[in-house]
Amino acid sequence: MSHFDYQNGVLHAEGVALPAIAETFGTPTYVYSKAQLLDNFDAYANACAGRDALVCYAMKANSNLAILDLLARRGAGFDIVSGGELLRVIAAGGDPKKVIFSGVGKSEAEMRLALEHDILCFNVESIPELHRLDAVAGALGKKARVSLRVNPNVDPKTHPYIATGLKASKFGVAFDDALATYRTAAQLPNLEPVGIDCHIGSQLLDDTPLLEALDRLIELIDTLAAEGIHLHHLDIGGGLGIDYGVAGEDQPVPAGEYLNRVFQRVEAWRAEKHDGRGIKVIFEPGRSIVGNTGVLLTKVEFIKHGEEKNFCIVDAAMNDMARPALYQAWMDMQPVVKRETTGAMFDVVGPICESGDWLARDRELPVEAGDLLVMKTAGAYGMTMASNYNTRGRAAEVIVDGDQVHLVRRREKAEELFALESVIR
Ligand code: LLP
Repeated sequence: MSHFDYQNGVLHAEGVALPAIAETFGTPTYVYSKAQLLDNFDAYANACAGRDALVCYAMKANSNLAILDLLARRGAGFDIVSGGELLRVIAAGGDPKKVIFSGVGKSEAEMRLALEHDILCFNVESIPELHRLDAVAGALGKKARVSLRVNPNVDPKTHPYIATGLKASKFGVAFDDALATYRTAAQLPNLEPVGIDCHIGSQLLDDTPLLEALDRLIELIDTLAAEGIHLHHLDIGGGLGIDYGVAGEDQPVPAGEYLNRVFQRVEAWRAEKHDGRGIKVIFEPGRSIVGNTGVLLTKVEFIKHGEEKNFCIVDAAMNDMARPALYQAWMDMQPVVKRETTGAMFDVVGPICESGDWLARDRELPVEAGDLLVMKTAGAYGMTMASNYNTRGRAAEVIVDGDQVHLVRRREKAEELFALESVIR
């Protein structure tokens, strides 16, 4: 069930009409549904109930403190990719002991910060990173728990920009080098190899590639065990896709079904081993937790009839939502107040001085200047990828909870955007 629906022709987020939000908070504004967020997280959490498992929300998808707080209180751990993200987890009251640290370029300062907060695990992506982490941990008199991100070379069949587990990718350690890399890790005095991980890509509608990657991780865990390196967890990354409403596209596999298939395989494998050793399963979902939790609410400034095309010029732009410009992503646009269709086709574009500043192309939309539109399914990789290009303050963010609206990030003021700058005289 969606928590965004039309009531008497007006789009609502839970019990609140979107025009009321535009009136109070202005546009563009990201509007999130608390109930949708919790439903999405619970789909993961319920499938994990009674199992040795942890859901580490990939906060790069949406790192607003209010979202992190809601998820932390629901028991989520977090997948982070920077020291800044760790500070956000702490500020939101999340538990650093449920944090895993991914990314190919962790700095010494970031490693130190993470070690001081005793995070659960570092997902290490190269041999030089192992050596750096060993040195930093040694200087602090600590032992760092590590997992190696292995590249299982499975084709996720998704957009090339978000496929990450192939041989040509900058991520992870090659499958064939994994054993030697674990041996190195096991020999370094300040590291403790505890896990293995992978992340093969994002927006996967089918879970077959994810299960193939799982099989490859299992194969490696057995090989390592034969060498005396016993791992305690396997982390299969994120990647589960969501329904963006693209015509003709398959529906994504529901999280619960995917997780059940993962647990079935893992449990069958453990039973076959007869060694009584358990293994914790970690998931790093981002998009499937927050994607359909949010819409981007925007106002039509002008309708412009060009020589070849009609343009619907809105007050949101590529600096608010970069996915169409970056990945040619198809994002659904809908009028907030339903109108009779006119058959008119539009490109929905923003005010930024770039031809790449578009949000949607060739859409049949019944719109007039002054109308409100929403970009649906905009909760993931929207605000976190926003910029201040053209000295545009980033959008406001609100969370709707029933008939209550909470401002969880106010709109930026232009003066704030240059407050850190100075002139030379
Ligand atoms: N774990 C790791 C190590 C990751 O790199 C990512 C996403 C995730 C988990 C979460 O993946 P998800 O469940 O969200 O698919 N900006 C792009 C997506 C980039 C994904 C980057 N990594 C987009 O807007 O489509």
